[in-house]
Amino acid sequence: MEIIKYLPLVLMQFTLILGSPFLTQKCYLWDARCLTSTAQTLVPSLTAGIPELGVERLDTMYIDSLHVDQEGYKVDWYNIYLQGLRNTVIDNLSIDINSKVMRLLFHTDVSVKAHYVKKGYLLSLPVAGEGEVNMKLKNVHMEFVVPFDIIKDVQGRHIIDLKGYQYWYDVKDGVDVVFGNLYYGNNELSRKFHTLVQQNWKLLTIKYNRFLFDKSNDKIFNAIRNYVHSVPLDSVLLYYYKIPDTEIAVKCALNDSVCLTQQAQNTLQLFVEGIPELGIKKIDKLYIDDVIVQIPKFSYAWVNITIAGMRNAIIDKVSINQDLKYIRVLFHTTMIMEFDYICDGILMSLFYIFGDGKGHVTLKDMQMEILFVYDIIKDHNGKHIMDLKTYYYGFDPVGGVDYYFTNLFNGETERTKLLLDLMNESWRIIVAYFSGYFNKKITDKFFTTLQIYMRSRPLQEYALY
Ligand SMILES: *[C@@H]1O[C@H](CO)[C@@H](O)[C@H](O)[C@H]1NC(C)=O
Ligand SMILES: *[C@@H]1O[C@H](CO)[C@@H](O)[C@H](O)[C@H]1NC(C)=O
Ligand SMILES: *[C@@H]1O[C@H](CO)[C@@H](O)[C@H](O)[C@H]1NC(C)=O
Ligand SMILES: *[C@@H]1O[C@H](CO)[C@@H](O)[C@H](O)[C@H]1NC(C)=O
Repeated sequence: MEIIKYLPLVLMQFTLILGSPFLTQKCYLWDARCLTSTAQTLVPSLTAGIPELGVERLDTMYIDSLHVDQEGYKVDWYNIYLQGLRNTVIDNLSIDINSKVMRLLFHTDVSVKAHYVKKGYLLSLPVAGEGEVNMKLKNVHMEFVVPFDIIKDVQGRHIIDLKGYQYWYDVKDGVDVVFGNLYYGNNELSRKFHTLVQQNWKLLTIKYNRFLFDKSNDKIFNAIRNYVHSVPLDSVLLYYYKIPDTEIAVKCALNDSVCLTQQAQNTLQLFVEGIPELGIKKIDKLYIDDVIVQIPKFSYAWVNITIAGMRNAIIDKVSINQDLKYIRVLFHTTMIMEFDYICDGILMSLFYIFGDGKGHVTLKDMQMEILFVYDIIKDHNGKHIMDLKTYYYGFDPVGGVDYYFTNLFNGETERTKLLLDLMNESWRIIVAYFSGYFNKKITDKFFTTLQIYMRSRPLQEYALY
């Protein structure tokens, strides 16, 4: 009989207003793809405005005025109507909960209509006039970088508070702009001016569009800020995932290495299959990034690399040094790496080797030692969590290493046997020279896995602390 416990996890999910008519999807904070598509679904309602949440209408946007006085060029715009945000395409919305920064990328076409008054010089050309301006900005790309905090609203619920923003823009596909009644009706001068503007649109966009975007982006920022203020993060805490009872049945004292080792062994199977709710990928088989190495006279690439064996790992020892703040983990298992390879070059001054095909490497009785350096910090509820900062590792495939590659030397069997014999026999040398390239990729994954897991739960939930 296995009891399943449900543990609430702090802040791993960005719920959007529950019961809101325009939200159908829930996302985890780390899931930029989900956040992006959710943000996209919000575009119509946000740009239409939501008065009850203090979200001003963004399309059509009204800006009362803007004033430019720069390098002898003076322009005032009044009664500005800006259209196009309703067609916004959200390119990316990501949230980094550690640095508390949100990053939003989007693009759209924008058209602007206003009354203008201008005088002075633009690119050394005297200019004067007053009338209606119509401007089309084609394919405007915006990037917002928004620091935020998590605060409590009046009801004591956690909400995201956007603190301010910086933006960057690029108008990619050109600007059409027509100033009516320029030079008070002098068509010849007006034509000359418009030609100049057309020819220098990129430069002028860089110089002057910021004045408009400063105003319109303030409105966009305020709309988003007011909107997320209405999103209670309390509902975020409704997020649960299953942990087998055995795993949390025992809470260990941090100085109790025997207990920690046993606990780690029990928890291992949880990681083997991964915890999608936390964004933790399975560690057996573990997928690692491509290894591409170019050293003098020898280059090789391993792609599509998988590593099997962690499910059978024996955790030999877990200990925590609370004075120096590190966790030491010692484990061993046989690891089997499979990949597609291509190589070309001279190995150990002995062989010119080349080929491409499948690779198979068995690290027999691979012993690994990892030292995770941590800090104890507080999560936004004021509870202590263990925050892994970095790690150091060592390894030793004490049982030796078997190498096998298909299609070496275009399939020539004699030379293949010579090479594999050498590699199998002198595995220590091969390991010493080459495994630095992929072992770190493996341990990086272990580090990230454990880091996410530790950050997801207060220490007191799984340790006597
Ligand atoms: C979105 O942004 C995040 C963080 O900057 C990045 O990791 C991710 O790859 C981006 N996604 C896309 C589809 O560009
Ligand atoms: C852990 O520390 C406590 C208090 O400092 C002590 O009583 C206990 O014996 C220690 N346990 C182990 C396993 O060392
Ligand atoms: C990697 O795997 C993919 C999918 O199985 C395959 O299409 C691709 O050819 C592989 N790469 C190499 C270099 O073999
Ligand atoms: C090297 O080890 C692999 C894996 O055990 C084995 O298949 C292969 O036959 C060995 N090669 C030689 C030439 O001994």
